[in-house]
Amino acid sequence: KLRNIDSATDVLSFPSVQYPAAYTASATPDLIKEEWDIDENAAFLGDVVISFDHAKDQSESFNHSLERELCYLLAHGLLHIMGYDHMTKGEKNKMREMEEKILTDAGIVSVSDETLLAKAKQAMQNAYVPYSKYKVGACLLTADGKTYTGCNIENASYGLTNCAERTAVFKAVSDGEKQFVAIAIAAEENAPWPCGACRQVLSEFAEDMRVLVTWKEDQVKETTLKELLPYTFSPSTGVLDFLAGN
Ligand code: THU
Repeated sequence: KLRNIDSATDVLSFPSVQYPAAYTASATPDLIKEEWDIDENAAFLGDVVISFDHAKDQSESFNHSLERELCYLLAHGLLHIMGYDHMTKGEKNKMREMEEKILTDAGIVSVSDETLLAKAKQAMQNAYVPYSKYKVGACLLTADGKTYTGCNIENASYGLTNCAERTAVFKAVSDGEKQFVAIAIAAEENAPWPCGACRQVLSEFAEDMRVLVTWKEDQVKETTLKELLPYTFSPSTGVLDFLAGN
């Protein structure tokens, strides 16, 4: 209502400083001094109000963590009370750039698909494949922006071979990570669609996730785990509660 828009929003900023047009906090030291709080030894720049429900919905639709969405909204709101705006394209780009810097400095990294694919290709070089000679690499992305890579590791017994995807999952889970949002898988000649065993193992930890595959001449195909494994037998279907008698 305050912005004369009669609908709820994700973040609202209430600057205590009236910045002249196109001015920000660092360029207006006299205005900032007026807001100086002696007890706090800091300037009160204003309030930022975040809608938790919106943050939750948005984190789900963007497929990233609630922590990342809350940090993003806070960064956005903080920039507003420092006088930044996004009316023009230039201002918008500048603000996006600063938001990314704030998130990176806070340890929340956004990882692009290009990076995921490149890391999967790099991991492919470590494949131990004396029997099939079919190298596979994978890169798993956690909800908090961490990546875990894996390669296929074959065995003289053949049957004990571990696929690249499961190597990545086991590395991540053994490091305490259980929330995944995407996996990139790379091979050289043929599209490395994950095998049934890997689909099942991935679905244990992620109801759904983006799956990117890349192969010869940088071809890329994108799908989802749900698409690759519908009617999943996984904890999310409640079947395990049933088995446990709950
Ligand atoms: N492989 C993977 O690493 N991921 C898959 O999704 C399919 C198969 C590996 C296992 C084995 O080392 C080789 O590819 C040939 O089956």
